[in-house]
Amino acid sequence: MSLHLLHQFPRLELLGAPTPLEHLPRLSDYLGRDIFIKRDDFTPVAMGGNKLRKLEFLAADALREGADVLLTAGAIQSNHVRQTAAVAARLGLRCVALLENPIGTTSENYLTNGNRLMLDLMDVEVVMVDALHNPTEQLAEQAEHLEAQGFRPYIVPVGGSNALGALGYVECAQEIAHQSEGVVDFAAVVVASGSAGTHAGLAVGLEQLLPDTELVGVTVSRKVEAQLPVVERIRTALAEQLEVQTQAPITLWDDYFAPRYGEPNDEGMAAVKLLARLEGIMLDPVYTGKAMAGLIDGIAQNRFRREGPLLFIHTGGAPALFAYHPSV
Ligand SMILES: Cc1ncc(COP(=O)(O)O)c(C=O)c1O
Repeated sequence: MSLHLLHQFPRLELLGAPTPLEHLPRLSDYLGRDIFIKRDDFTPVAMGGNKLRKLEFLAADALREGADVLLTAGAIQSNHVRQTAAVAARLGLRCVALLENPIGTTSENYLTNGNRLMLDLMDVEVVMVDALHNPTEQLAEQAEHLEAQGFRPYIVPVGGSNALGALGYVECAQEIAHQSEGVVDFAAVVVASGSAGTHAGLAVGLEQLLPDTELVGVTVSRKVEAQLPVVERIRTALAEQLEVQTQAPITLWDDYFAPRYGEPNDEGMAAVKLLARLEGIMLDPVYTGKAMAGLIDGIAQNRFRREGPLLFIHTGGAPALFAYHPSV
């Protein structure tokens, strides 16, 4: 196990404890295959989700740089922005967010409820933009603007997805290896693949620790051709940072996100309802519902490389259920 460099990166201990890894007996019966779930929807800031693991590293870097503002960007219903705002609140920093409306909806719930409601509760300074067509540039411009006012902004990239943030999911892979050791041999791990830090971090960690376990990224915003380089770029930078090799093929399934990012589909919503009905677990319409639809269809279509138990990473997102009600 050669992930020893992971512990040399400064991080804040915001998570506190490993998230639970649970068996889902009723879903397993229903699908005829053992399904487990990693409860990263249970991370302990502002209703949870996958970003806290990344923010432990990113916020430590921000503090090291003496920042007084966390500056980031996302959709109006971004779970990432909500969790960044929560970490800023915990650390006594300001949070400024560039927000877009990626589906052009005028639905009152989308514009004001769910994640967006929590941004107001946390006093986030929201800057609306027509579109995040080049978030790196748009964030840099906003940072200049803040600097001109005397602030010291730290840019948290969209989704917290760079090599530093992705370290959080190398750590999650370590947790999974530890929690499953001697208990269960996962045939595959399934995760939503968006800005890709979660996917890339798991890819590096699982290749080292559970090399016989397939990692499947279910895309939520892009076709494979566009998503593959995004995952590869972060995975390569991360592997360099940790001085490990990565050569496992990257598996992406892009059949489950239509019609587009941020717009629910029937299969995703059916998966949301299934998990609620069978297990009392809340998925979301944008990420985990679609990823679970991929897992369910992957079983039906025999898409997994081998037989055996599957692990679904619950990356959070349930606050968006309120924003998407009754429909966009
Ligand atoms: C609930 C949820 N799941 C999955 C993802 C995707 O994670 P990543 O952006 O690291 O690919 C996100 C990202 O915003 C999310 O909010």
